[in-house]
Parts: sequence; structure tokens; C-alpha cells
Amino acid sequence: MNFNKKTVRDIDVRGKKVLIRCDFNTPIDENGHLTDERRIQGALPTLRYLITSGAAVIVVSHLGRPKGQVNPKYTLAPVAKRLAELLKLPVSLAQDVIGPDADRLCAEIQPGQIVMLENVRFHKEEEKNDPVFSQKLASYADVYVNDAFGTSHRAHSSTAGVAAYLPAVCGFLIEKEISVIGKALTNPARPFVAITGGAKVSDKIGVVNALIDQCDTVIIGGAMSYTFLRALSGRLGTSPCELDKLDLASDILVRAMEENVRLALPEDLVATETFAADAQPHIVPSRQVPDNMGGMDMGPKTIEKFKKYLKDAGTVVWNGPLGVFEFEQFATSTREIARAVAESGAVSIIGGGDSAAAIEQLGFSDRVTHISTGGGASLELIEGKELPGIACLMDSDE
Ligand code: 3PG
Repeated sequence: MNFNKKTVRDIDVRGKKVLIRCDFNTPIDENGHLTDERRIQGALPTLRYLITSGAAVIVVSHLGRPKGQVNPKYTLAPVAKRLAELLKLPVSLAQDVIGPDADRLCAEIQPGQIVMLENVRFHKEEEKNDPVFSQKLASYADVYVNDAFGTSHRAHSSTAGVAAYLPAVCGFLIEKEISVIGKALTNPARPFVAITGGAKVSDKIGVVNALIDQCDTVIIGGAMSYTFLRALSGRLGTSPCELDKLDLASDILVRAMEENVRLALPEDLVATETFAADAQPHIVPSRQVPDNMGGMDMGPKTIEKFKKYLKDAGTVVWNGPLGVFEFEQFATSTREIARAVAESGAVSIIGGGDSAAAIEQLGFSDRVTHISTGGGASLELIEGKELPGIACLMDSDE
């Protein structure tokens, strides 16, 4: 994975208007407070660089999935406020994305100032990568910078389309993500262990297949393991299983055997009768879950087994929680795996909000190699897919 894209260092931004796509899709609580600001922190180096290089900075981002409708629930106002605090500079939030307020603010902006457009997904044209919408966004600026690593796997107007109309380079966050992940995956230190969790097999089929080609051990935990256990004729009670993915899961199990890759599944689960934070937990064998119960977390035997595989790992890639992490009682396996990854001393790449949160809550951020700001994007990168938000940028030899 060679990084061959131009960066903000390769272009003169002095006195120019720069449209920068950031991924400020961050969780916000009911009081409007950001509960995880890693993506904002991640964008600061590029934003500071642009400001101090004399650019006028116009920030574009999405927040959540407002489905092309203006929805105050998804306003970027809390993000603009927090960004202003972190940069110690005013951030003017436009009331719209390509409307009269954005027109005015982008016309009046001066070098050293920051304007943020409202949530770009308030327009359905964004996710359709509509050329007229892309061109309108581009008309606000002289240069396009993409630093939204977390959204770089989406071919949308603000992540890719706009690059057709402006000189387009990447920011420091994208440069860092691609370089660090690329370096770890090129001739990885072995054993190479991948841990995948989260809910859906369908989201991760591609990556699990790619991991089987690259890894020595692939650990499958969390809700997606239920589909694999079911494919092995396990009884999973009310655990969520993707019944239409059983054949796919079987194919993956066969491929792993053929390639001589260890594919590790849970031995036991923590199961409950109801899906609730205070439900009574029962430890049950992973293939014999009682009919009235569903899996909520990995059981103690499973945790020990997974930890054993991590102990001597040379490289670890981890994406996705292993249990219902949002309920304290069922966060145990995710936390224990976070600890094991940090203590392994392996080159470690963590992707996805819950895995990253587990590492941070335990104070292990300094003991892992890289916490990615991209969940889906880092998986697609590992899978070897082209990321449209990066492919559209100018090559460094151009
Ligand atoms: C993410 O959180 O993964 C990115 O911001 C992309 O969001 P999306 O999955 O709604 O496109």
C-alpha cells in the first residue's frame, strides 16, 4: 500500500479559499455534548496548518444519516462550538449548505477565518454524488482538501464528486491513517491476528475473506459470531442470526480450513432472557443457548481462549465490539480484549467507535499502535478496496 497522493504540503493555499471535507460524524448526547471527539481532534492538525498558512477555511461534514432532509436533530452546531473551543478561533456555522447563508459567508470569508457549512447530508444530492451539487460546493473555493478518512469509502459529492472541479489534495489525517495502516499490513509481524466483532456478518464478509488471506488467526466474536455458530448447526436461542448468510458463513469456514488459518469462534456466551442493561446473565455453551435466551457477550472460557491467541501476536487488527458494549454488564469481553491487545505488545490497529472507546476507557491509547478514526473505511482499506474519497485526489507525481 503505497501512499501516492498530494497533500496540503504540496499545494499553495496562501490567500486561497479551501473547502475541507472532515468527518465530524460524532456521537452527541441529549444535552448536545459530544461524547467522543476523536474525529474532531484528528482534524485539528490540518485545520491549524491551513489557518496558519493563510487560507480561508470552509469546512464540510455530515452528521448521522438525516436521509437528505433538513433535521435540527442532526445540526452541526455542537461540533462548530467545540471546534471553535479547540482551535481558539471563531467558527461561523452557515444556516444552510448551498443556500443564501452559505453563499454570503463563503463570499465574505477572509484568510485565517473558518466557516462551517451545515450538515451536507441535509441534501439528498450529497449521497447521490450529484454533479450539480458537487459543482456548487466547489464554487465556494479554490482548493479542495479531503481529510475525512472515516467517510473516504463513500463516493459522495463532498467526499469525491467535488474533486472533479478543484485541485484536490488530502489532509494530514488521511495521510496518517493510510500510511500507518498500510505499513502495518505490508509484511506484517507474525502471528497476524484479526479480531472482528459487531453485529452484521453482511457488513464484514468481504473483510473476513480478505483477512483469511492475510492472517494466521481470525477471531470472530460479538453478534456476528452467532451466524457462524448457527452455520455449524448450533442452537442460538433468540440471538440475532442472519439466516440468509448461513451459506456465506459456511463458505468462510471452509476457506479458513483450506488455507490453514485458525478461525476462532466463541466457546461460551453470556445469555439473557431479555435485551436489557439489568437482565439476569447466564453463562451457556455457545452452541446450546436455551430457546428463551439470546447472547449478550462472550463468556469467560471464550475470553481466555481469545486472550491466548493474542498473547504472542506480532500484529493485531481489531474492529467491532464483542458484546453489547453499551450495557456496562455486557462490556466485559470487549474490555478484556482491549486489555489483551494493549498488553500483547503487538503492532495494533484499532478501528470502529466501540473498540476505540474500550481502549480509551481503560487508558490504553498509548499502548496501541493506531486508533483509526474510520470504522467502515479502515475495513475497506484492509480489504484492499479502493477508497473513492482518496482515489479522486491528485497523485503525487501529477
Ligand atoms: C462513519 O461513522 O462510519 C462515517 O462517518 C460514515 O458514515 P455512514 O456510514 O453513515 O456513511
